Amino acid sequence: MDGTVATPPRAALKARLPLVVGHRGARAAAPENTLAGVREAHGQGARWVEVDVKLSRDGVPFLLHDDTLDRTTTGRGRARTYAMADLKAFDAGAFLGPAFAGERLPTLAELVSLLAGLDMGLNLEIKPCRGLEAETAERAVAVLRETWPKDRPWPLLSSFSPKSLEAAASVAPDMPRGLIADRLPRDWRRIVADLRLQTLHLGHEDLKPGQLAMLAGEGIPVLLWTVNDPIRATALLAEGAAAIITDRPGAVLAAIDAAPP
Ligand code: G3P
Ligand code: MG
Repeated sequence: MDGTVATPPRAALKARLPLVVGHRGARAAAPENTLAGVREAHGQGARWVEVDVKLSRDGVPFLLHDDTLDRTTTGRGRARTYAMADLKAFDAGAFLGPAFAGERLPTLAELVSLLAGLDMGLNLEIKPCRGLEAETAERAVAVLRETWPKDRPWPLLSSFSPKSLEAAASVAPDMPRGLIADRLPRDWRRIVADLRLQTLHLGHEDLKPGQLAMLAGEGIPVLLWTVNDPIRATALLAEGAAAIITDRPGAVLAAIDAAPP
């Protein structure tokens, strides 16, 4: 990729970010990181979802939060040891009840196809297994370049992993990128500059007074996770958060409608 490609301006990204992003789809109501979860988020009124992407043994980007299959699927053991075709055999919805049985682990390409049909945006969290930090980012970006609709702005990429973000900055300087962290790192200015980031994605529980207003004043859009109390969500938006990532997008949207921030 040509290193001279411009990173997208923060203001333009903030202007198109929705106030509410469905976490792992709409995790409170439907199985996380599945197509059913994305449909549920859409049904609740969310315009964007956040999902987690990692790699199968044969290098296919697919959606899953944990390194292992056990909590959310009928599979057992480490997900990265299975080829995508074998991962497809597992049920990824039954853990939440029979209504979701039959749901499969979606590939990133399948997710993009659904989002395009629903006219939805995406915050793609790069969630690599250890040792696959760069490769996961590179392969996810390659799939996005092949499949993301040409007439739509790129998804927002994010990760806890600086290595994944470094790889993303290298292969996708034209896609917006953000660091995920439990709390604002002391050296956040250096990190944002070094990794050429547009956004910060912070846990909401350890925010310090004034931090949101300070970051908003610096022009850094902050997405907060995982905020499931609608009253707290509206308060955080009023304090300067750019967006709320929530398991309950419908409830947070209703609170925003009732009392706009
Ligand atoms: O992207 C924000 C949030 O999803 C990060 O935490 O563990 O839910 O992926 P986690
Ligand atoms: Mg996530």
